[in-house]
Amino acid sequence: MIKNDLLIRTLRKEQTERTPVWFMRQAGRYLADYRALREKHSFFERVRNPELAAAISVMPVKQLGVDAAILFSDILVVAQALGVDVEILEGKGPIIAEPIRNQKQIVVLHPEETEEVLAYAIPTTRAVKDSLENEVPLIGFCGSPWTLLCYMVEGKGSRDFSKAKQFCYQHPDLAGQLLDKITESSIRYLQMQITAGVDVLQIFDSWGGLLSPSDYKKLSLPYLGKIVKAVESFVPVILFAKGCWYALEALKETGASAVGLDWTIQPAFARMAAGEMVLQGNLDPVVLLGPANYVENETISMLRAFGKGNHIANLGHGVLPETPFENAKVFVETVKNFRF
Ligand code: CP3
Repeated sequence: MIKNDLLIRTLRKEQTERTPVWFMRQAGRYLADYRALREKHSFFERVRNPELAAAISVMPVKQLGVDAAILFSDILVVAQALGVDVEILEGKGPIIAEPIRNQKQIVVLHPEETEEVLAYAIPTTRAVKDSLENEVPLIGFCGSPWTLLCYMVEGKGSRDFSKAKQFCYQHPDLAGQLLDKITESSIRYLQMQITAGVDVLQIFDSWGGLLSPSDYKKLSLPYLGKIVKAVESFVPVILFAKGCWYALEALKETGASAVGLDWTIQPAFARMAAGEMVLQGNLDPVVLLGPANYVENETISMLRAFGKGNHIANLGHGVLPETPFENAKVFVETVKNFRF
């Protein structure tokens, strides 16, 4: 039994004494203890080593008092599972030296080797679970197939992922083959996380909003739907679809328990589109760079705009590395002290 199960009860649409709160990318560089570990261990060393992954995942729970932990890993491990070399470089983000551009490169991708390549995920996830001592739930995750395709084809981060989109428009069949393989590997990876004890899953469709509504229906939604269907009977699923305000109604139909919103979406609009679905979000991460009283006021306005129940407090995207720790704490404390 989990002692603080506010997040899970909210995902089940139960009445709770207050709104649960956590941050996307909460295990990261705004924490001094995390920065210290970066000096000694490379990114994937931190992901693959059970003690390091556990220490990092637990940091925000201990230091900020958030209502959930998230597994320390990255969405790009699924590209590695498929056989693609990925590096994460300081100041540059993910780099894929040989981006996927043709059928030959897609044919050799091997989703059936996911369990072998990502074998470390079982002991690392178990180590995180053990370190949490059932204080709060553990969120597992993966990226959406579309968001993974963006990095695998573009080869790096981008403002518009134009090479990735161009690839899909020029070679729709190949794009479909690639998305199918990413989908299969993602399901296998999430099933490993479930086996190892995660309580909730979140799928990050961070670049869904780069697609037109009709392309979203072709290139992202069907694959998200497949993943949700494969796992939703085991644990509740949160879909974070940044910039996808136009797809809220369709996202509801996937069977996910909650949808994560970015800060451009008005809660009242989301309620209209997604009905009684649980909503997560959606303070602008940059607000946390402002003065503490501004953070507090904006957090209260956000809570009021969502209203009582069926809401998980979070930012509209990941917490920024330059966020003052004290302001992250103000956000958490404001949510925890607020009552309707
Ligand atoms: O705290 C957590 O949320 C758990 C760990 C986590 C990481 N990445 C660790 C990480 C999670 C959930 C992610 C998800 C992720 N990774 C997404 C989706 C969420 C989002 O922010 O949109 C995406 C698009 C990626 C790909 C990725 N990984 C990028 C773009 C970067 C570089 C940008 C940056 O923040 O530097 C990474 C590297 C990465 N993944 C870091 C962390 C903590 C920073 C590198 C480091 O600490 O050395």
